[in-house]
Amino acid sequence: MEKWARVKYAPCLPMGKDGKRVTACSEHIEISRSVAAEGMVLLKNENNLLPLKDGKRVAVFGKGQYDYVKGGGGSGDVTVDYVRNIYEGLKIKESEGKIGVFDGLIDFYKNEIEKQYADGKEIGRTEEPEIPADLLNAAKAYTDTAIITICRFSSESWDRKGELHDGDFYLSEREEKMVETVTAAFENVIVVINAGAQTDTEWYHSNDEIGAVLYAWQGGMEGGLATADVLCGDVNPSGKLVDTFAKKFSDYPSSESFEESDDYVKYYEDIYVGYRYFETIPDADKCVNYPFGYGLSYTDFEISNISAKQCGEKIVVSADVKNIGNVSGKEVVQVYYSAPQGKLGKPKYELAAFKKTALLESGEKRTVTTEFDINSMASYDDTGKIAMSAYVLEKGSYKFYVGNSVRNTVKTDYEYTVENDTVTEQLTQQSAPSKLEKRMLSDGSFEEMASYTNNVYENNYPENTAKAPEELAKLIDVFNGKVTMDEFIAQLTDDELVELTYGKPNTGVANTFGMGNLPKYGVPNVMTADGPAGLRIDRCVGVRTTAFPCATMIACTWNPDLMYEIGKAGAEEVKENNIGIWLTPALNIHRNPLCGRNFEYYSEDPLIAGKMAAAKVNGIQSQHIAASAKHFCANNKEVNRLDSDSIVSERALREIYLKGFEICVKESQPWTIMSSYNIVNGTRASENHDTLTNILRKEWGFKGMVTSDWGNHAENYKEVKAGNDIKMPVGQHDEVMKALADGNITRPEIEVSAKRVLEMIMKID
Ligand code: BGC
Repeated sequence: MEKWARVKYAPCLPMGKDGKRVTACSEHIEISRSVAAEGMVLLKNENNLLPLKDGKRVAVFGKGQYDYVKGGGGSGDVTVDYVRNIYEGLKIKESEGKIGVFDGLIDFYKNEIEKQYADGKEIGRTEEPEIPADLLNAAKAYTDTAIITICRFSSESWDRKGELHDGDFYLSEREEKMVETVTAAFENVIVVINAGAQTDTEWYHSNDEIGAVLYAWQGGMEGGLATADVLCGDVNPSGKLVDTFAKKFSDYPSSESFEESDDYVKYYEDIYVGYRYFETIPDADKCVNYPFGYGLSYTDFEISNISAKQCGEKIVVSADVKNIGNVSGKEVVQVYYSAPQGKLGKPKYELAAFKKTALLESGEKRTVTTEFDINSMASYDDTGKIAMSAYVLEKGSYKFYVGNSVRNTVKTDYEYTVENDTVTEQLTQQSAPSKLEKRMLSDGSFEEMASYTNNVYENNYPENTAKAPEELAKLIDVFNGKVTMDEFIAQLTDDELVELTYGKPNTGVANTFGMGNLPKYGVPNVMTADGPAGLRIDRCVGVRTTAFPCATMIACTWNPDLMYEIGKAGAEEVKENNIGIWLTPALNIHRNPLCGRNFEYYSEDPLIAGKMAAAKVNGIQSQHIAASAKHFCANNKEVNRLDSDSIVSERALREIYLKGFEICVKESQPWTIMSSYNIVNGTRASENHDTLTNILRKEWGFKGMVTSDWGNHAENYKEVKAGNDIKMPVGQHDEVMKALADGNITRPEIEVSAKRVLEMIMKID
């Protein structure tokens, strides 16, 4: 095929074998199902209540069995052919003779929920109906074992609720009543949670009447079947939490200030996010029900023979993992480091590396080896306690812990000693806050913060001295090496150049607009599409795609190889539909459970987020489709997201909120990054030269192009100057031309962005 044939002509050409379509093909749906099963986290399993087997009879309660939420809403949604709910999943197991399912309840739930849908209620936001007494009695007569299902939905541009009985973080009163009724009536009670983020755990953690809890997340289109796979033991759960599950919403350090203002968010807790807070701050450990990294299995593993050593610039850790139970399973070996407190203060533990085993048969033992850079343990000194604006390894002993959750570890004999405080990277101050009065220290107290002023900048990009070719050159001539990019650019008028700095109309099945589109010069209009859980095409188009599990669930697999597979499979669907740029992965940090988009993001930990994002980008780009890592940066709240200022210390920005992006850039070089809507320390994320040019490009070596988020409140020309190369979905042509005429932006500045857009397009195939 001619280069760009798909993006230019949008042919109806299936990409599968024998002329079959790969979009929503059975192989992709199977990936979705198996990743969902691998991401579920078994939180509780008293007396081996699970797995259900030998024809065990169950009765399923809660509207969540029917009102199944496959993933979150908004741009993270996916249009699918079908969604398999939990009841259907269990019925399939029944048809295979594994369990018995009481049939008497489903019509009741179905009718109740369909009525609520007809009244305008969204999937996952319906009310829990009251169980009729006769159905309860009939169910009791059928079995002594009940499954309670709870579902939750969230979406972009609004945040979740965190007040008692809210039916969101907490159970609603109707749900509480349902739980009481069911636990009173049945001997054995299993809970299944279908949610995209943290919800209250206290009601089952502290309740002896609830024997087992499966956090089944939002598992994509086959989520109900994947849930049944785990409940019935066809898949042994191996998911581990990527967020700390605390006792109460108010236990999270960011909860108090989360709703303080619509105009700003102050990140007072600083680097003490998630387990960095709960495991470090005095007494905070008592607030945890299920720690970071935790998750049960139907078998037991022994992690032994732990060793660590220095190998050049790295620490290499190895451990033997043995399956000492009766069924095969996978375990995750997690390595944490503990840095000396020194002058900067440190979290007690930080995840340094992790590795998931292959499926180990009962009795099987394997050695797992993993490694990480010594310098990755350095902390950023943003106040000059040791060395201003530098990453520093403070003197002292660095200790290592290996285990299967942050709480269940063994310390290695080996420690890494730093004799003198060592600067590992001297940087310069970037995006420091002017309005953060205080921040948390590792003893739970707060230190006062100075007020910093913004960096001023001038780009000083050199004039393009290349000559325009005598005959009009097309972009393919640049690709084929016949003319240089500078020669190509030299032939464009100012107007044509400016056109490259904003989005272009939809073609084909797209709904999020395109980039490029200068037909005279053979620049194709390359379409974009969302989003993290699968290729999102509007329902009206009639194309159905594969909905994968929500991002948090995939992260809970701790298996970047699976993430790569999803990236690759999704990119195939993107390509088959003649789209070139896939607006994923999303990797903002789970700062607080209420952020409406947490389901789209990976974790409270930047290493997991960065590794998962990098794996997805590598999978996507292996198909010559551009990935777009988003939302850069500090977009951790949805309410008023277009104008809310994230006020955060430079240290927390670098060590927590930027770190995942840094890992992703260094390990996968995404062809595009999407800046976020919000303001970061007083400057809009898309107009932020400090983050977009100084950090992203100069410090990390990012080679790609930056797009704005869709329809933000920033100015096109200021974005281009800052290093945000394209404004989506539409631009401000006249304003940029005026800024050029007024000398507020130079032609070389616009050329730099235009070139980046063209270079990205040249990579697409
Ligand atoms: C979202 C992005 C998305 C874009 C295009 C925005 O509202 O924040 O994540 O990619 O829309 O749909």
